[in-house]
Amino acid sequence: MKPAPSTIPRHIAIIMDGNGRWAQQKGLPRHKGHEAGARTVRLITEECARLGVERLTLYAFSAENWKRPQREIDFLMKLLRRYLAGERPTLMKNGIRFSAIGRLHELSPEVIAELEKTRALTRENPKMLLVLALNYGGRGEILDAARAFAGDALRRGKVPTLTEDEFAGYLYDPAGKNVDLLIRTGGDHRISNFLLWEASYAELWFTKAFWPDFGIEELHRALADFAGRDRRFGGLGER
Ligand code: IPE
Ligand code: IPE
Ligand code: MG
Repeated sequence: MKPAPSTIPRHIAIIMDGNGRWAQQKGLPRHKGHEAGARTVRLITEECARLGVERLTLYAFSAENWKRPQREIDFLMKLLRRYLAGERPTLMKNGIRFSAIGRLHELSPEVIAELEKTRALTRENPKMLLVLALNYGGRGEILDAARAFAGDALRRGKVPTLTEDEFAGYLYDPAGKNVDLLIRTGGDHRISNFLLWEASYAELWFTKAFWPDFGIEELHRALADFAGRDRRFGGLGER
């Protein structure tokens, strides 16, 4: 099944939640859930590229996730490095560009090197842009943008006028400023500090499915639902 191109969201963002509970319900350690979750990342990324989605932003590690036990953090960072190295051929094969957002400079040099290598290698790819949100927080992003703007104002010696579009120019990736469809797996109904600016008019889709169980069928269900929505943006829509 392939939905009509006109109804495909240009920018999909996903809060990939429920890895730990997926593992626990199977009597497995939490890290097995993260490994299974990484496989879902490949599946969903490839399907989104095939469908003609322009940008897919995946919440992989939040600014709040540092509160977890060090062992789990270490595992997630190791998995991230393994994922990036292992995924480069698949990204090339599928023509997918890669990028990351968040306070990346606070990540380890090894992770930063893998991110840079993947970004550089895939730079010319013509299809979808895959963006991993890493050490990312929505409030932190808006604060970083405000700081960058203030820095600019100081350098210029005056405070320039500022429209929403101009402010968005200071976000981690200005081109990603509008999310069309925001999906959260794992059964909770919250944003967890993800893309607060960018998702201001996103359509929301929540599913109980844990991320490792989220598959192509469930993605298509979300897309079918999205296709039927009347996005009015405060106006009167199509009546
Ligand atoms: C999402 O799954 C992955 C990350 C936040 C890194 P969780 O690890 O949050 O899984 P649950 O929510 O505890 O089941
Ligand atoms: C959100 O999941 C962050 C990621 C998916 C990376 P969490 O499991 O960290 O969120 P909360 O704790 O349920 O809000
Ligand atoms: Mg969680």
